[in-house]
Amino acid sequence: MAKRFDGKVAVVTGGANGIGRASAIRFAQDGARVAVLDIEDGPLADTVAAIRDVGGEVVAIACDLMNREQVEGAFAKIVQDLGPVDILLNNVGQTARERASEFWCSDPAIWDFVVGVSLMTTLSCSRQVVPSMRERKTGKIVNIASDSAIAGDHGIADYAAAKAGVMGFTRSLAQELAEFGVNVNSICPGGTNTRGPRRLPKETFDRALAAIPMGHMCEPEDIANGVAFLASDEARFITGQTLVINGGRVFY
Ligand SMILES: NC(=O)c1ccc[n+]([C@@H]2O[C@H](COP(=O)([O-])OP(=O)(O)OC[C@H]3O[C@@H](n4cnc5c(N)ncnc54)[C@H](O)[C@@H]3O)[C@@H](O)[C@H]2O)c1
Repeated sequence: MAKRFDGKVAVVTGGANGIGRASAIRFAQDGARVAVLDIEDGPLADTVAAIRDVGGEVVAIACDLMNREQVEGAFAKIVQDLGPVDILLNNVGQTARERASEFWCSDPAIWDFVVGVSLMTTLSCSRQVVPSMRERKTGKIVNIASDSAIAGDHGIADYAAAKAGVMGFTRSLAQELAEFGVNVNSICPGGTNTRGPRRLPKETFDRALAAIPMGHMCEPEDIANGVAFLASDEARFITGQTLVINGGRVFY
């Protein structure tokens, strides 16, 4: 039976863990050939095994996506091994985790890291695929933002600022690429059951959990469902939009 991503090449950044891993598996289950990029070797190997378990074809590249030379090298290898990219999921991003703090006492060096990993990686990876998507007049880019960018979040202002940047980037790129048939959208997860929120200071974690009307965190697979929809042709007339998946914490 035909699958919805048959013949497509999908790239997932930060595919070794959490939302990225769930999305990479989902793309493979739906027929895509998948490239997973991540800085963490060991979990990357686990994602590769999980994709092969569902019968998927996968290329894994260990790299630091905050390093632009490594970004260029990784995308050159993907094109060489799999061909031009049809789908890019920009998923890498994080808070300062244990080092997160209220802004008044925050360290500017930490802002540089948080904005670098949560916003600049999205620009760097998009820059690698946009010229060929534009030329081939096809492509889907899905950017993972956060509902912190909409609702704000006490103790992670640098992260909320970076993710609001992801949403602004999404809209601008969507406008530039619409005439070329390329869709660019973002997803704002709320608190999701991955290692990231569990590493936040307890007070910040408890506050985030208490704010979710459904009373529990989202599962990574719930986000992967939204990713698969926005990356599919079912979403062909949707661009520049933000899909919020957060159990009702905030509306957009
Ligand atoms: N978990 C949540 O509650 C939540 C909520 C809203 C948004 N998000 C966003 O969802 C995305 C995924 O988050 P997650 O919770 O699955 O996190 P995660 O830490 O489980 O996964 C992120 C992955 O990115 C990789 N990574 C980090 N820096 C990298 C770098 N420089 N180069 C290459 N790979 C790198 C990590 O190794 C990891 O595998 C992030 O953008 C995050 O900000 C998460």
